[in-house]
Amino acid sequence: MTRDQASSSGPIWSASALTGDPHQTADKANRVKAMFAAIAGSYDRNNRLHSLGRDQAWRRRAAALASIGPADRVLDVACGTGDLTEALAREGPGEVIGVDFTEPMLELARRKSADQRRPPGFPTPTYQLADAMDLPFDDGVFDVVTIAFGIRNVADPGRALLEFRRVLRRGGRVVVLEFGRPRGRLARFGSDLYCKRIMPVTATWIAHDRSGAYRYLPRSVATFPDGDAFESLLAAAGFETCRTHPMTLGIAVAYRGIAG
Ligand SMILES: C[S@@+](CC[C@H](N)C(=O)[O-])C[C@H]1O[C@@H](n2cnc3c(N)ncnc32)[C@H](O)[C@@H]1O
Repeated sequence: MTRDQASSSGPIWSASALTGDPHQTADKANRVKAMFAAIAGSYDRNNRLHSLGRDQAWRRRAAALASIGPADRVLDVACGTGDLTEALAREGPGEVIGVDFTEPMLELARRKSADQRRPPGFPTPTYQLADAMDLPFDDGVFDVVTIAFGIRNVADPGRALLEFRRVLRRGGRVVVLEFGRPRGRLARFGSDLYCKRIMPVTATWIAHDRSGAYRYLPRSVATFPDGDAFESLLAAAGFETCRTHPMTLGIAVAYRGIAG
């Protein structure tokens, strides 16, 4: 499904497509790609606004959890417009590569990267087109692999996690940043109201979106494994010492594991 097909043949994520579990949709990968191509231009603006300015702090915390050393090779998967990739570069590794399968998101990442002023000695990220489930890298060549708000969008998250383990050296770190579901009743009520009722309307309006991206977002969070269930996915892919780090009442969560 291309972006043009999406707009000419109705929303990518119609209300009926979201009645069940969107992760089980047969053509999830094509829908996700077309959806991000459709919203790329307003993606950063919507993130800043709808996280009330917290999203960059979540990415900085995820980058810090990667414990990056000066010689480290770092891979940021599903890098989108490159915000986590840039935060990783500012941790001072040897090299940072961002990969994504949606070209319009990567175009923005490259443009933003060219405008950045980094202190001397900090690497400039490189960006390339690649699928999280079939990474174009040899085994064991990275010290750190990260993914922010991406694993939920991948068609087969388990397969992607196995790819992350394959390209990491033994002892390398994986850091996954995702939306969580707050545990406290009040926080959960507020978060549900905001994410399911308010944000889909305002974000759709800001993006002039017809893809259904901001209806898909809360539904994809609600139906994706979190907490212990996500740690189990990491363990099944060969990661050890997995830990969950909740942020902002658990609205965002960083998972960290070590490649065993
Ligand atoms: C919500 S955006 C996150 C972007 C960025 N990491 C951030 O922190 O804002 C999700 C990204 O995942 C990408 N994506 C989804 N499935 C993918 C896959 N199989 N391979 C590569 N990228 C994928 C999309 O193209 C999109 O750019």
